[in-house]
Order: sequence, then C-alpha cells, then structure tokens
Amino acid sequence: MSSSVKVVVTGAAGQIAYSLIPRLVDGRTFSNKKVDLALVEIPQVVDKLEGLVMELEDSYFPNMGNVSYTDNFQEASKDADWFLLVGSIPRGIVYNGKKIEERSDLLSINGGIFVDQGEAIGNYGKENAKILVVGNPANTNAFIGKNAAKNESQLWMAMTMLDSNRAKSIISKKTNKNIADIKNMIIWGNHSPTMYPDAENISIDGDLGSSILNDQNWIQDIFIPSVQQRGKAVIDARGASSATSAAKAAIDTVMACEHPTDSGSCFSAAISSDGAYDVPEGLICGFPLMRMDDGSIEIKRDISLSNFAKERIQISVDELLSEKEAVKHLMK
Ligand code: NAD
Ligand code: LMR
Repeated sequence: MSSSVKVVVTGAAGQIAYSLIPRLVDGRTFSNKKVDLALVEIPQVVDKLEGLVMELEDSYFPNMGNVSYTDNFQEASKDADWFLLVGSIPRGIVYNGKKIEERSDLLSINGGIFVDQGEAIGNYGKENAKILVVGNPANTNAFIGKNAAKNESQLWMAMTMLDSNRAKSIISKKTNKNIADIKNMIIWGNHSPTMYPDAENISIDGDLGSSILNDQNWIQDIFIPSVQQRGKAVIDARGASSATSAAKAAIDTVMACEHPTDSGSCFSAAISSDGAYDVPEGLICGFPLMRMDDGSIEIKRDISLSNFAKERIQISVDELLSEKEAVKHLMK
C-alpha cells in the first residue's frame, strides 16, 4: 500500500454517515491508500459507534487502517488529512417544539458547532487538510469554521455535489442522454433554495447546454426549482432528509479533490471566494472548481455568464451575505 490518509467524520452515528463511512475504506475513494478513520459523535450517542466499528471490521476492507471513535473532536483532529463535517441537526424534524422548515432555520442551532471544530482543525489538522462541510446550512457553517480555524493553508468547502448530481439526473432524463455524458454541472451560490444550477454551461455529450436546451421556460419553471427544492421533496417523501445520495455526493467530492480534473472540465463545491465572478471575498460560495496536478483546488475562471445567470447568482450571494450578518456574533 503506497501511503495513508487520516479521515475525521463527525455525526458518525447518523444516517448519512452509515452510508458514507464504509465507502471511505472501500479501496476506491482513496485508491490504494490505507485509510485511518476517526469517528466523532456527541457524548449521548458516542457509545453506539462501537457497533459501527464492529460492522466495519466484519465487512473485510483490506484498505482500512486504524479506526477510533470519540466525543472529543480535538483529539480526533490530530494530524488529520480530511474532515467530513456531517454532525449537525437536519431539517424536517421538530426541535424545541418547532418544525424546522428551511436549512437557514438551522443556523442558530448548528452554527455554534463549527466554532470549536474550526478552531481544533486550524490547530491540530494537517497543514494541507481539506474540510468538507455537509451539515446544514453548509455554506455558512463552513464560513464559521474557516474563520475559527485561521489557517489559510487548509481548504474549507461546503457540499454542493448533491445538487450537481441531482441536476445531472434531471438533464439526463430531459435529453435522453446517459448521465455519464452530462458534465460540468455547476451549482453557483448557496446550498439553499436560492442556488443557481447552471444549465447554460453544462456539457451534454460534448455540447454546451446553451446550444441544446433551448427551452428557457423549462429551465426557469421546471429545472431550476426542481434542483432547488429536491432536498425538501426527499424529506416530504421519505420522512427524513436525503442520506445515501448525500453520502455518495460527499464521496464524489473527495474523489474530485483527490484526482486531477480532466482538461476543460470542472466539479461543484462551495469554497471561499477570492473575488472571482464578483462574489465578495470570503463568502463560501458554490463555484466551478478544478483539481490541479499539484493537488491544489482552483476556481475555473473562463465560464461565461448570461445576464440571467448573473441575476440568479446575485440572489444567492445576497442570501449568503445575510447569513454572514446573522452569524457575526460567532466570529472571533
Ligand atoms: P442525523 O440526525 O441522522 O445525524 C446527525 C448526527 O450528527 C447525529 O448522530 C448527531 O448526534 C450528530 N451530531 C450532532 N452534533 C454533533 C457534534 N457537535 N459533533 C459530532 N456529531 C454531532 O442527520 P443526517 O441525516 O446524517 O444529516 C446530517 C446533516 O447533513 C444535516 O444538517 C443535514 O441537513 C445535512 N445534509 C446536507 C446535505 C448537503 O447536500 N449539503 C445533504 C443531506 C443532508
Ligand atoms: C438536501 O439537499 O437534501 C439536504 O440539504 C437536506 C435538506 O434539508 O434539504
């Protein structure tokens, strides 16, 4: 085995984690590297992880390294290469007597988690660690965590890959193309109902979406709202938020970061803006990304945006700005 990677997963006893964790050690996600796992839960349920560890052992994963579990995030963080921050409360449940309807309603409940975790990652994670926030509201949680980490050599991301995969599936059905032929599905902005799934710059069997999907009514009235509201549709149908598709999207994000992006292609995640596409610096915003040969992650800067796209992105950026304002008390 060539080398090893240490991965921290929070919310390890939750429903996403149950699909996610086995895939981390299956020999595909990190190719032939040995994968050490540090699983984190809150004290009330951390003991349940003993059962998960038993199942992992029983599954026979030749690439699995050390597996530990703890309720001490700081201890888990030491020398970790990857942090998958899933641990947080989902919407669709009743919390303190009130049904949580929107992801942004979770800001006041989940936001605080990311202050302590961010600080620990900044202090104890590897210098080039990558952090993927899955717990909602993912972009602003990542914003809080990055601010607390104060470590510019680490990369903070919020997950938009699930939205990208959902959008590819819809386009594949609409065009009768295999999903493998749908590429470069960019999700701009926030992982929220304001996100902008970009049907103009998508590649469909090598052609640009703008040249193939010439039904603007379908894009505006069906495609965009369906992607924006798919999380709610799953909650309504399943009685719980998406789990196996969220886990798959987290794996897809890790793999996109581990392997160089094909020339001309991109993948979707939200990272801290450096002012690209006029998004205010520091906001954790969905962009088209590329994993370069040297391992760095860069924003793809040659995407052309129509006026319609610019307007839609601005709506989502405005929402990110208002979420930033709402969590300013968590900035140190
Ligand atoms: P879940 O309730 O099944 O599991 C969450 C787990 O997190 C629980 O076991 C809980 O004990 C744990 N947890 C809470 N606070 C923690 C902390 N401080 N440290 C460690 N663990 C902690 O929920 P789930 O279905 O697995 O969803 C988790 C989160 O992911 C939710 O916020 C959900 O909205 C979000 N989500 C995001 C996306 C996305 O695309 N970004 C997709 C699906 C779900
Ligand atoms: C999703 O998009 O499925 C998740 O963010 C869960 C949710 O609350 O919608």
